[in-house]
Amino acid sequence: MISQELRDKFLTFFKERNHKIIPSSSLLPTDPSVLLTTAGMQQFSLYLSGKKDPLEDFGSRHLASCQKCFRTGDIEEIGDDTHHTFFEMLGNWSIGQDEIGYFKEGAIQLAMDFLVGELGLDKKRFYVTVFRGENGIAKDEEAIDIWLKHGISREKIIECSAKDNFWGPVSSIGPCGPCSEIHYDRGEHLGCGRPDCGPNCDYCKRVVEIWNLVFMQYNRNEDGVYELLNQTNIDTGIGFERLLSVLNETGSAYETDIFEGMIKRIEEVSGKKYENNKQAFRIIADHTRSAIFLVGDGIEPSNIGQGYILRRIIRRCVRYSKMLGMTNDFSLGDYVFEKYSSVYNELNGSKERIYGIIRNEEEKFEKTIKTGLAILEKKLETIDSNIISGEDAFDLYQSYGFPVELTEEIASEKGFKIDKVSFLEALKKHQDLSRAGAEKKFGGVGKDAGEEGAKLHTATHLLHAALRQVIGSHVQQMGSDINVERLRFDFSHTQKLSSDEIKKIEELVNQKIKENLEIKKEEMGLEDAQSAGALAFFKEKYPETVKVWTIYNPTSGECFSKEICAGPHVNKTSELGIFKIIKEESSSAGVRRIKAVLIK
Ligand code: GLY
Repeated sequence: MISQELRDKFLTFFKERNHKIIPSSSLLPTDPSVLLTTAGMQQFSLYLSGKKDPLEDFGSRHLASCQKCFRTGDIEEIGDDTHHTFFEMLGNWSIGQDEIGYFKEGAIQLAMDFLVGELGLDKKRFYVTVFRGENGIAKDEEAIDIWLKHGISREKIIECSAKDNFWGPVSSIGPCGPCSEIHYDRGEHLGCGRPDCGPNCDYCKRVVEIWNLVFMQYNRNEDGVYELLNQTNIDTGIGFERLLSVLNETGSAYETDIFEGMIKRIEEVSGKKYENNKQAFRIIADHTRSAIFLVGDGIEPSNIGQGYILRRIIRRCVRYSKMLGMTNDFSLGDYVFEKYSSVYNELNGSKERIYGIIRNEEEKFEKTIKTGLAILEKKLETIDSNIISGEDAFDLYQSYGFPVELTEEIASEKGFKIDKVSFLEALKKHQDLSRAGAEKKFGGVGKDAGEEGAKLHTATHLLHAALRQVIGSHVQQMGSDINVERLRFDFSHTQKLSSDEIKKIEELVNQKIKENLEIKKEEMGLEDAQSAGALAFFKEKYPETVKVWTIYNPTSGECFSKEICAGPHVNKTSELGIFKIIKEESSSAGVRRIKAVLIK
């Protein structure tokens, strides 16, 4: 089945069942606390929370859409079988219950009718997950009974915790609720063979989630409390690419009609085979599509927020194209326009504008690379051995944004190697210096961290204090790095943070920003600082006299954060803008890493 057919089938199915088809909203959400649109329900938030009436605006309580989405948390996962930055989400909604509204029973019936009746999937291969009850909210026995009635055997109904089966609000406040997910067993050949393999398996992707049914009954309010909504809603989401690859029994959506043309073209231009270079091919294909959609919705490359995401996507795409030995090849983008212009109107007639913006960014990056290349070539002439020192490789990286993988590749073409160990040491030294407050250049933009750096330093202290409040006082700073675009913070903690914890942390930081706390600096002896409770960087050796930065409420005198740090910092938290975590990942054993940005 090709993508257009699946999209049509879904929308027609719901249209025939009295759903109003609503066009996708922009990737740029109207809610400023959210960077990009990540789910189909976002454009319906006000209806789902009961503030607006869908009957008035859409003439129906039943809606369905195919929504453009973008998940930044997945950028570094691209290349595997199942992740994409840009993707489409199919969804249906029943907003509010009156005589025509449906809830759990109706949503499950529709899902089974579509997957089994319309698409012909075998329900014996389904697993379903249900909320097992937590935080004063009961186990979803009702959903279990309904699934049983639909012939799903009890051992295929898996009870999961809130981490997997409570769908939280997109920004930290808003409508949410327990959910029930349909997972599909793609077959033994894709499995890890463990006896407990199933949905959310840590070892393989044999069983993949294809549809999430959210039973919206709650609203998370500004104090983080879950209040019962005055209405119940159904909110569902299907990962479109995921379902398409399941239907076609391909291991990945990169092997469906969506990406087929691009993959073939990359093979032609690079002379390399997809089979042997899957990760690079997939990154180029994914990022080409994403960049076109981001620019299509009016985003331009920059150093903050959405613009920074676009910049990163374009530069990463150029980098991987170079690794495959390709020059910029715009015919790749043509495949995106061919597939999507008839679906998303904003792509119609805007090809030249979109290409212009992307090309401009590519040229900027090319220039950066060219300068670095000239320097690298000069360097190579003066080196006696065939080893490029770590400092030299680092200098190219730091001052010219020259990716170390590229340095490595060019060097190897000329018979040189990089001293990777000393490169990593130089990188580490630089990060430590930056943590100690040195303003720095980083990430290929050659710009001073300056004012943005001070804001991100203060945001780092707020984050550190918020982490200790939300997940516990065992949290210790294990590393920190700031560049003009983002902060990165490593801390001791063994488990992945749940989306709920991330939201709570963001919320607390943003609350402190809003409270307009003041920041004061004092110099004192190390022991005094420590006995005053100032947090210190776990691995650091400090001089005898240190600077202590306190973030406090000038009216009540209450202190939110006290840390030993060389600065620089801003004077008041209100200078920071909106704090947003863009990534949470493992850094090393027992250490988690958060990357966060400030949005103006
Ligand atoms: N709102 C449902 C989902 O994104 O899965």
